Amino acid sequence: MHRIVRKIELASGTTLFEVEAPDVARKARPGQFVIVRIDDAGERIPLTIADYDGGKGTVTLVALSIGKTTTMLSRLEEGDSILDLAGPLGNPAEMIENGTVVCIGGGLGIAPIYPIARELKAKGNKVISIIGARTASLLFWEEKMRAVSDELHIVTDDGTAGRKGFAVHPLMDLINAGVKLDRVMIIGSAIMMKVTAEATRPHGVKTIVSLNPIMVDGTGMCGSCRVTVGGKVKFACVDGPEFDGHQVDFDELMARLRMYMDQEKLALEKYTH
Ligand code: FES
Repeated sequence: MHRIVRKIELASGTTLFEVEAPDVARKARPGQFVIVRIDDAGERIPLTIADYDGGKGTVTLVALSIGKTTTMLSRLEEGDSILDLAGPLGNPAEMIENGTVVCIGGGLGIAPIYPIARELKAKGNKVISIIGARTASLLFWEEKMRAVSDELHIVTDDGTAGRKGFAVHPLMDLINAGVKLDRVMIIGSAIMMKVTAEATRPHGVKTIVSLNPIMVDGTGMCGSCRVTVGGKVKFACVDGPEFDGHQVDFDELMARLRMYMDQEKLALEKYTH
């Protein structure tokens, strides 16, 4: 059992949980994730690791309430426990040193991009961060991101915070201004990652995306997280979650993400009514 030691509402529907998990906290690296099962009857869901503290033995997870399990999770309080927390899973984020990197976090993706930006900064890179959300109430960690970035750009779809537009807009401004970028790292919705990766392709800027397909076991056995990258089938849980954004078949990923939408809606309705 993994006790919740801290719970904070970060943004509308977005909750941070700091959870006791000493073994995971000791080994976790930026870019990895855990698979969580709340109780005996619960489904297993992947959650990216937003932070970890090996000394305290805790990991920080950020979840958006969209389905039955994430809604159940959002109703847990400090002192409650999560049954299983398996991890750290997936490969750590690939790091470079002394370069210029753009770190983009969209919506919930702001949480996992934070430890990646922090580590890139610690490795001597110039870190230019772009965080965005549909609207101001969904934004969080502006100050945390500013603290690990040389430059921070904020965008919202509706212009209620920062610049009105999408993450791709400040990124294109940088490219058009001739800023030499060694890498772009993106974590966000599949459509946002697709659009942003397309924008860097003609400029030959290496663009890494962190994929979020449906996952069940997280160990490469069930095949539910399969994605096509460079024409080859890959399992995001063991081969990723990071991949070359110019090689990912995003249309297939989006179609697979939509596959269980009706069942997920039904499960949420049954749980909340
Ligand atoms: Fe089952 Fe990746 S989650 S193979």
